Amino acid sequence: MNVVFLAPSYPPEMQQYTRGLAEVGANVFGVGDTPRRGLPPSLKPHLADYLQVPRIMDEGDVIKRVSAWLRGRQIDRVLSNWEPLVILAARLRERFGLPGMSVDTVLGFRDKQLMKERVKAAGLRVPYSFKVKSEREIREAAEKIGYPLILKPIAGAGSADTYKCTSKPELESAIAAMRHVEVASCEEFIDGEEFTYDTVCIGGRPAYENVAAYLPKPLIARTNEWISPVIITVRDLEQPKLKPGLTLGRKVLKALEMGDGFTHMEWYLTSKGEAVFGEIGCRPGGAHLVDQMNYTGDIDLFREWARVACWRSFEASTRRKYNAGIIFKRAIGQGKITRITGLREYLRRYGDAVVEEQLLRPGTQRRNWKQTLLSDGHLMVRHPNWDEAYKMSFAAATDVTMYAGG
Ligand SMILES: Nc1ncnc2c1ncn2[C@@H]1O[C@H](COP(=O)(O)OP(=O)(O)OP(=O)(O)O)[C@@H](O)[C@H]1O
Ligand SMILES: [Mg+2]
Repeated sequence: MNVVFLAPSYPPEMQQYTRGLAEVGANVFGVGDTPRRGLPPSLKPHLADYLQVPRIMDEGDVIKRVSAWLRGRQIDRVLSNWEPLVILAARLRERFGLPGMSVDTVLGFRDKQLMKERVKAAGLRVPYSFKVKSEREIREAAEKIGYPLILKPIAGAGSADTYKCTSKPELESAIAAMRHVEVASCEEFIDGEEFTYDTVCIGGRPAYENVAAYLPKPLIARTNEWISPVIITVRDLEQPKLKPGLTLGRKVLKALEMGDGFTHMEWYLTSKGEAVFGEIGCRPGGAHLVDQMNYTGDIDLFREWARVACWRSFEASTRRKYNAGIIFKRAIGQGKITRITGLREYLRRYGDAVVEEQLLRPGTQRRNWKQTLLSDGHLMVRHPNWDEAYKMSFAAATDVTMYAGG
């Protein structure tokens, strides 16, 4: 089994998928823009070969270089688990005539407008929305939708340039703030709780499913620096509350003709109990979500995904043992981390439940919280009981404080 894996060293969790591929017996041919000598030593034993390209996002150039590099070699799969490279992987598959999702299918997971159209065409509930390219179009869409509404880039990530507008004056300031965005989506604001629906699929059928709760909603977490965003995987997927979301998720996979591999969907649950589609990618969620899922069931989805991608078989247990909560911390102040308070006491109380503590240490430069949900590090806790996991997660949010300065 010869597998081309795009970007085996970046983002860092790709190293785990590379390891997983090697563990299930694949020869991994990595392609990335990290210089060969910059590859982490732990990654090297898992790579059969590596091609360094000057610009991994330059699709035409990468296709040319990879084709020349692989000439004379038999390749069985081209895979990627990173959002910006899923189309490139599909283009390479088409070029080499390999199995896997086509460019058109992958586009349904990448182009947010097309995605919503396809999901809606399957009779599923999506926010009422318009693709808008000018200020006039935004104002016309707003007339039809009414308030509150959401204005956001069509190709957004990390809630960047996403605005909730509750009135005309708020819409006008959002328009002014979004002048640099070429194509936007103007849509009905869905008032509800937000969850993920994550899967590993074989032929579009989930071999593994997960739901995680965003606490608070991502847009609120991304606009208020003082908040420590919390995400908790839900152990009990059988509870009636989640049923509409799981049903929606499975139907979305069908509507978009999912093939093999990871999906990461976001959905809203309204107070009436209705599930509304948010967005979906045909790749795993970022920000340690796969680690959280692994801690939820004591499994290794990095390897299990690889088994699915290569052999179309999933062998891990799907029994859920814990609710796993991740708490991202943001320091008060600018510059370098100076101190952390409350951590010792927190670990004394809840240490048994803490599975990871990766807060940035004093002396380290703060990360840009607007650019990465990872913020200034995280704690991860788990507990079989939801209320306990919730309490411990929020205790870490409120009782542990990081400071920066200088
Ligand atoms: N129609 C909507 N109704 C209510 N909230 C919305 C709507 N669209 C977006 N939001 C809010 O904005 C957040 C970001 O929007 P969305 O997920 O579409 O974009 P994104 O930038 O790709 O997000 P991310 O990369 O953080 O997942 C959502 O998680 C939600 O909190
Ligand atoms: Mg999102």
